[in-house]
Amino acid sequence: HLGIAREAMDRLILDVPDYPEAGVVFKDITPLLADHDGFHAAIVALADAGRDESGAVVVDKVLGMEARGFILAAPVALNLEAGFVPVRKAGKLPRECLSESYSLEYGEATLEMHADAVSPGDRVLLVDDVLATGGTIAATRRLVESAGGVVVGAAVLMELGFLSGRDAFDDVACTALAVI
Ligand code: PRP
Repeated sequence: HLGIAREAMDRLILDVPDYPEAGVVFKDITPLLADHDGFHAAIVALADAGRDESGAVVVDKVLGMEARGFILAAPVALNLEAGFVPVRKAGKLPRECLSESYSLEYGEATLEMHADAVSPGDRVLLVDDVLATGGTIAATRRLVESAGGVVVGAAVLMELGFLSGRDAFDDVACTALAVI
């Protein structure tokens, strides 16, 4: 599925110049999501990060980060017959939460997860669309560890390699279907 996913991503992830601001090239994944075969291949390829060499599932929970991470992580969880956990921006979840903040270019962002969403010893896969500076994945990893879980790996569609984001969590295996 990796070859099919990469071919579909080349064709169906569109560069949108100067969005959301001048000088930024936004990667629009919505045409990929709208293509059943491409979306399916991408999900199966991402889910491989939650399997060992024999194909056996090695994760109990799949975490997706708001908002585009939700779209990918939920079907990955179903593929792996694992639970799905949403990691949300601050103030969106109704019950007791764990919180982790991280630095943005200007200011800070906070991610939250329900305190009981990951149990001690749970093996967790993190799934998102893009790895940029690594702040999102690093903060989510801290959330998992503060709940007593173990991050088995991270999987993203695209890694912006020039930002060296994986240095922010260099002891966690990270699969990127494409490096830009
Ligand atoms: C984007 C993207 C990742 C994150 C990657 O999310 O979907 O979650 O940035 O950046 P980082 O590696 O520098 O942390 P964004 O915060 O734009 O949220 P959205 O999906 O709700 O638009």
